[in-house]
Amino acid sequence: MSLLSAARIVRRLLDGPVARPVLLQWKREHFLSSQGYGFYYGVFESFRDARAWLPPSKEFDHAPIAEEFVEVRTKRVFAYDYPVLLWLLRALQAGATSVLDIGGSVGVHYYAYRRYIQLPEGLTWRVVEVPTMVAIGRNLAMTSAATALSFTEDLDQAVMASTSDIWISAGALQYVEDARPARLLKLCVARPKHILLNKLPLHSGDDFVTTQNIGSGSFAPVRVFNRGRFIEEIEECGYTLWDKWDVPERALYLPGFPGRSFQSFSGLYFVDSQQLRNRTTPPPYRGL
Ligand SMILES: C[S@@+](CC[C@H](N)C(=O)[O-])C[C@H]1O[C@@H](n2cnc3c(N)ncnc32)[C@H](O)[C@@H]1O
Repeated sequence: MSLLSAARIVRRLLDGPVARPVLLQWKREHFLSSQGYGFYYGVFESFRDARAWLPPSKEFDHAPIAEEFVEVRTKRVFAYDYPVLLWLLRALQAGATSVLDIGGSVGVHYYAYRRYIQLPEGLTWRVVEVPTMVAIGRNLAMTSAATALSFTEDLDQAVMASTSDIWISAGALQYVEDARPARLLKLCVARPKHILLNKLPLHSGDDFVTTQNIGSGSFAPVRVFNRGRFIEEIEECGYTLWDKWDVPERALYLPGFPGRSFQSFSGLYFVDSQQLRNRTTPPPYRGL
């Protein structure tokens, strides 16, 4: 028996009816401690219920959380970034000149990706973020002469005013209370031609809300989405799923809820179906 199978059996036993109450108590204490960074806990009806249960915190609106983004994520990409880099590059080569980056932290993707691909002159890259990230991001952009970058705190306003060709959101929609792409797309007048979503918690079951210890004494509600519904809603807005990939670097283990735990987050790339119909020749590359 492999180590992985043995670990799964132990986990199943711990999640079973006998050990479950003890496991939940132990995991809850661990989750709430500084050792619980990155871990998930609990199932809730809504962000409001999750917040009522969590210790008070500033969630992501907390300067120490920006540290890793500034120091690490502006400077390198990770394996899960490569599909985004590929499709972003192709979209830019096809003439896209503007990006709306929802939850793009201090501009991490802009800084990291420009080390790998040529960004066109005149590109604009607008980041929607919480106030602390916006303040740190603006400061960093000023000191590094990153004139393509701009920041805003108001998601609905940003989406309504958006004329961006590309929407990117990596590991962020799950933390925003009402950020289902279908809702945002309905708000938007000039819809994006490309939608690149990365590091999303999609699973086969129903949507639910859990919580995560996000470090530096902060905790956040997290929405887990039903995969099929999430994709269908975007397709119904007039988009075609063009590629999808697993993000095994992100998993969700929910103590006491084996049916809501999964091994891998997801990435999705959608293209505006109208754009595809208007083409005289089919686009040459497709992930699916
Ligand atoms: C896990 S981080 C991902 C950051 C970056 N996209 C990346 O992949 O490294 C989640 C980001 O979502 C942002 N976020 C959370 N709630 C938000 C909200 N209501 N509006 C905008 N951004 C939000 C956080 O501030 C944080 O930067």
